[in-house]
Order: sequence, then C-alpha cells, then structure tokens
Amino acid sequence: MTTSFTSTIRERVQHIEAMPAIPAVFLPLLKMLSSSTEEVKVDEVVRLVSYDNTIAAQCLRVASSPLFGLAQSPKSIKAAVIGLGLRRVETILLTCCLGQAFPAGKWALDPDVFWKHSLGCAMVCRKFSEKLSAVDGEKAYMAGLLHDLGFMVNCLVFSREFATAVERACREEIPLHEAERFSMGFTHCETGRALAEKWKLADDIIEVIAHHHAIDQSQNAQPLVALVHLSDLLCRMRGLGYGYYERHKVDLISDPAWAILLKDHRDLDGVDLARFTFELDEAVEEIHALVSTVFGSSSGARTLTRTGSP
Ligand SMILES: [Fe+2]
Ligand SMILES: [Fe+2]
Repeated sequence: MTTSFTSTIRERVQHIEAMPAIPAVFLPLLKMLSSSTEEVKVDEVVRLVSYDNTIAAQCLRVASSPLFGLAQSPKSIKAAVIGLGLRRVETILLTCCLGQAFPAGKWALDPDVFWKHSLGCAMVCRKFSEKLSAVDGEKAYMAGLLHDLGFMVNCLVFSREFATAVERACREEIPLHEAERFSMGFTHCETGRALAEKWKLADDIIEVIAHHHAIDQSQNAQPLVALVHLSDLLCRMRGLGYGYYERHKVDLISDPAWAILLKDHRDLDGVDLARFTFELDEAVEEIHALVSTVFGSSSGARTLTRTGSP
C-alpha cells in the first residue's frame, strides 16, 4: 500500500463525522488493566462502572446471570463487582465500552460473532502470555481484544465496500483480510490503525492492530504482534472466527509467528500446542455465554449465511 493511499484512509477516518469518540471510561480502564490485580481498588472499579448508566445496568445484568452462579442477584454495583471478580468486570467493562462506541444497526459482520472472536482472542492471548515471561498478560489481553478494531471502522466508514468484502470471503471461503484486500484495496489493519492513532492508544497496541496479519512488516513489539497473530489463528480454528467457514488450513508450528516467539522464548519449545488448543475449548463455552449475556439480543445485526469454523 502506498503512503499516499494510507494517508487518504487516515484522513477519511480522522474527519468522518460518524467516527466514534473514545468512550470516557476507556482510558482509565486501560490504566487499571496495566496495574497488577492486588493494586486495583474495588472502589475505583465501582466508580468507573457507576460512571455510565448503561454499563452499570449491563454489569448488574451479567452478575445476575446464572452463568456466574452467584447465590443471589447483587443489589448494588459494589456487590456485583465483588461477586464477579475484578478481571471479569474489566472484561465486561471494556466490551461494553467498545460496544457503546459502535452502535447497533451498522454492522456488516454479526456483532455477536465479532465480540466472541475479540474476547476469545483476548483470553487466548492472556493464556498464551503465561508461557512467555517477556509479555505482560494484561497487555496481551488488551491487544487481543482490540486487534480487529478496524472491522468496526469498516462497518461505519466503508460499509458498502466492506459488505461486499464480507460476502466475497463467505463465498470463496477465504480469510476476511484477503477478501478486503481484493475487494477494497486495503484491510481492517489500515483502518484500525487510523482509529487507534486517533484514540492515541499505546504504540505497541497500534503495532498489533496494524500488523497482526503481516508480522514481517512489524518493526517493534514483534513478540506481542506474533502472539496476537497466533491467538487469532487459534480462535479461527476453534469456532471463534468470523462466522463463516474458512477453507484455509493452518499449521501453527510452521507459522513464521511461532519462529519469532521461539527466537526469544526457548522455553516455548516444550509447549504442547495440541493440548493448548484443547484447553481453549473449555473457555469457548464461557465466551459464548458471556457475550450473549453482555449484549443480550440487542445486536440488530445481519447474520451471516453460514456459521462455524472447521
Ligand atoms: Fe484481523
Ligand atoms: Fe482477528
């Protein structure tokens, strides 16, 4: 992609009226996520949750869901936060924040499918990072959650072109970023980068958003980009993809991203990837349930014609 074309996309994303502003509680949340669990104050989380009525209501709804098995429905935000646990509350908050920034009814992708993929990727990234001493778990989680931010931009800013790309991906059973490239001449990586820069997200998160499908182009933060790339592939292999069948077969061990991680983390050599993917299946059910509970049936989206991954 030429520099002038990239700056045209950036220009369009920067100036589009419909482009969402970063939700007010989002940056404090990012800061909170970067501290260790022991340092996070329950009262601070309660304050953030209470800041926004919609988010507060969603937290209470999720906390009351049988999924989390609380003995009784929490009567207050504080009870909900304590009952759910801080990490789960953070997940709910971040998901709600982003869901709010991108209103229903504008989606060319089914938002349920999109959120399940993003949350799935975030959870896999965090799990993966436990095996890598140099990558922080919460940074990895954040990178996984945000890596496909550009799909939301495409739905809002390039809706007609993106709908054509989605249809092509389903029809030809090819990865969505390839269909975008064929149909639009650019991908969610470029548009996501433009929004991430507008939102002034951290440089390494921008790097992940921009290069998770082309790690060789990543100059900095390569282990994090490689980690997200592999987690994205894993999710697409295990039924947390983009809601359609991808013909593309994946071999994680021979993927260049695996070699990048191995270069700095020799201890990964002993990791049983097959076992790791089986463990992931256990998390899939919770992700499905969590997304359904957070968003209820309010998505109002078009559902793709074929669902499921191989
Ligand atoms: Fe992607
Ligand atoms: Fe993805």
